[in-house]
Amino acid sequence: MPDPIDVEVKKHSEDSIQRELWGTRVGFILAAVGSAVGLGNMWRFPYRVSEGGGAAFVVLYIALTLIMGIPLMLAEFSVGRRTRLSPIGAFKKEGGGGWSIVGFLGVLTGFLILSYYSVIAGWVIRYGIEGIISGFAADPAAHFGEITTGIAPIIYHLAFMAVTITIVSVGVEKGIEKASLILMPVLFAIVLGLAVWAFTLPGSDAGYSFYLAPSLSELMSFTTLSEAAGQAFFSLSLGMGAMLTFASYLSKHENLNREAATIAASDFGVAFTAGLVVFPVIAALGLTADVGESTVGALFIALPGAFVEMGAIGRVVGIAFFFALTVGAVTSAVSLLEVVTASAIDEFKIHRKSAAIGAGIIITLVGVLPALNLNALGLIDRITEWFLALGALGVTLFVGWRMRNPQEEMLDGASGFFASIVPAVLFFIRFIMPLIIIPVIIYTGLNLVTEFRTVFG
Ligand code: PFF
Repeated sequence: MPDPIDVEVKKHSEDSIQRELWGTRVGFILAAVGSAVGLGNMWRFPYRVSEGGGAAFVVLYIALTLIMGIPLMLAEFSVGRRTRLSPIGAFKKEGGGGWSIVGFLGVLTGFLILSYYSVIAGWVIRYGIEGIISGFAADPAAHFGEITTGIAPIIYHLAFMAVTITIVSVGVEKGIEKASLILMPVLFAIVLGLAVWAFTLPGSDAGYSFYLAPSLSELMSFTTLSEAAGQAFFSLSLGMGAMLTFASYLSKHENLNREAATIAASDFGVAFTAGLVVFPVIAALGLTADVGESTVGALFIALPGAFVEMGAIGRVVGIAFFFALTVGAVTSAVSLLEVVTASAIDEFKIHRKSAAIGAGIIITLVGVLPALNLNALGLIDRITEWFLALGALGVTLFVGWRMRNPQEEMLDGASGFFASIVPAVLFFIRFIMPLIIIPVIIYTGLNLVTEFRTVFG
């Protein structure tokens, strides 16, 4: 009996474009979880929760991860695996030329997200290095201000981009699978340990109630819903073709439904646990006012504060935390650059190395702006969140109404419960998801206009 993966490779090499495939199922899951779990869970989730009303945001976020995140991930998986192409080519092949705009938008979004994602990853690296050299600063809010100003953020951004470009140049299997294998579980273990420690802190109650006790009126707020939707897309790496691209390296034997559920559950678990660290710590250490002033810094203000509080052991835990988070950021950044690179390879038939280096250099240059200016960083983050929602609508409409027999692709490799829910999921993709995503797009778009006015007005 030939190995199924060999058969796939052979079959595939008869196609016009030869495509690499994942070495193992675990490799694919790790890379997809690596893409999902990153700064979005640790930095962006607490930041958005602080801004967006606390517990109500969390409840809506959970609901949206389940009802929109998992179906959308399945949708992206099925387009990627069916076409075995990166976003632009995939939508063109399966839907016709006009649909390639969804792919173009995805590539642009990946490009823009990476430009500022790398800046934040640079802050993370700097915290880690400072932890080693001099320990964590006693006044975390003031120190966050120092970390994010001047020329230094550009240097760290360059260093982070250099690592990302190197990994993507090497290729999906060798580069990505191995990096995720050990360090994702380490990151989760540290965050879990910190959550248990935070529970023992006196004065943490206010943090728990902010994070976990929603008020009904806030639950009904459409603002909170829209922001939670944006965070769900970002955190699950959806709406720009990252999951689609990863699935294009996947064989027909994988149970796409089960993988989507596993990835979403892991991603949610990490973000939720990060909140169980950040909010109790903010309350217990009296950092509420500082974080209120700079919600972007919620993680960066709360955690170093906690590490200082923990004494000598805090320094070791802190260094390990920032190191593991750097790896989490690398695996996500790799998936962002992979979308752009794979598209360049597929569209222009150029080598992986040239594609990764060329795209990486342009992204690095664009990233100098958010590295120098926090307002610019916030604005690009908002713009790309809107792009993700547009992309999510594109994928939803495509799979719901344009793709030939999406059910067949979703069922390939699925069995039992995961196969039985496919018709319901497809119904949901067709009829319900557009009804949620379209208002989110309109609402987020209007907010974006207001944001532009405040930044430039
Ligand atoms: N999901 C990543 C995170 O939460 O850090 C960020 C990200 C990666 C967003 C890849 C979008 C994407 F396509």
